[in-house]
Amino acid sequence: MTAGGFQPTPGDLLGLDGEQTELHARAAQAARERFGREVFVRGVVEVSNYCRENCHYCGMRRDNRSLDRYRAEVDRLADLLIHHRPASMTDVNLQAGEDPVGAREVALPLIRLLRRHTPLGVSVCLGTLDHPLYEALREAGAEIYILKFETADAGHYTRCESPGTLAERAKHIRQLAATGWFVSSGFIAGLPGGDVEGLLQSARFAADLPLRGCSVSPFVPGPHTPFAGEPTGGVDLALNCMAILRLLRPDWVIPAVSALNIGEPGSGYRRGLRTGANLVTINLTPPDLRADYVLYKPDRFIMTEERILRALEAEGLAPSPTGLAEHFHHSVRETGIIPVDPR
Ligand code: 5AD
Repeated sequence: MTAGGFQPTPGDLLGLDGEQTELHARAAQAARERFGREVFVRGVVEVSNYCRENCHYCGMRRDNRSLDRYRAEVDRLADLLIHHRPASMTDVNLQAGEDPVGAREVALPLIRLLRRHTPLGVSVCLGTLDHPLYEALREAGAEIYILKFETADAGHYTRCESPGTLAERAKHIRQLAATGWFVSSGFIAGLPGGDVEGLLQSARFAADLPLRGCSVSPFVPGPHTPFAGEPTGGVDLALNCMAILRLLRPDWVIPAVSALNIGEPGSGYRRGLRTGANLVTINLTPPDLRADYVLYKPDRFIMTEERILRALEAEGLAPSPTGLAEHFHHSVRETGIIPVDPR
């Protein structure tokens, strides 16, 4: 099913700034019709940068020996999130490299504490894990699982040494959705070795998965990765993908990712909001750990609450008082539909 009959074309993807104003405006309009002026605000903490995977694009890959690896202390993150979190955030995302030990020893007890002591909705982005561990995270009180497929071209996925195979990744997404998680995914625009047809394929692949949201990140070449010398994916390409996703799935939660700021600090983020993004992320990782959590560049632009609120205000938007997890529960009740695997 393609919502609204929208059929994206390579032309939608290739237009640069100025040429795609109309596409972006349509996407923003679709988001405003569904969500009004409200944008979800989620905090992210990076709980571990250990990773057993070796993705060519990612700075946390296991072969990167230049990083100091850490697992955060549960009590320290709990104190930060229970007593010192920004007032506008309704949800938290616990993110890590693919590190089952970190998931079990840091994320799990932290989720229990957060559910006991805060009203925060809990998302996790912890990679492909085994089913008992997914279950334990769910029982602890996490409700949203973010599992990105990165590229929908199976050969490209494998050449990038992304985790397992694309088919396995999609199977995990379907199983998470079938076992009560609200699932979000994501892909990278301008990943070396990919092409425009592949990106359209990624947008369609996402739209056919049982998802509640999807991110698009512009590729950023990271030092100490096999792709270090490759060109950046480009913010325009990522924005065009975001617009296409929004028009395919008007009800999705689509984030303005911080990597949009790589080109011009601050402005890419606002362009994301003008292209129908309806989720922003405040980075709360303690600064001493942050330096070693490198998906792409160590000098990435950090989104603080102040910067986020300023960007929202400048775009005539406002932080949503309703949390993401709450929104998903409500939309299940509203429609009576529990999202199931569309296949
Ligand atoms: N450029 C853009 N996004 C990246 N990610 C990892 N490396 C890069 C990169 N070089 C994204 C991937 C991954 C998420 C945690 O960060 O989508 O799943």
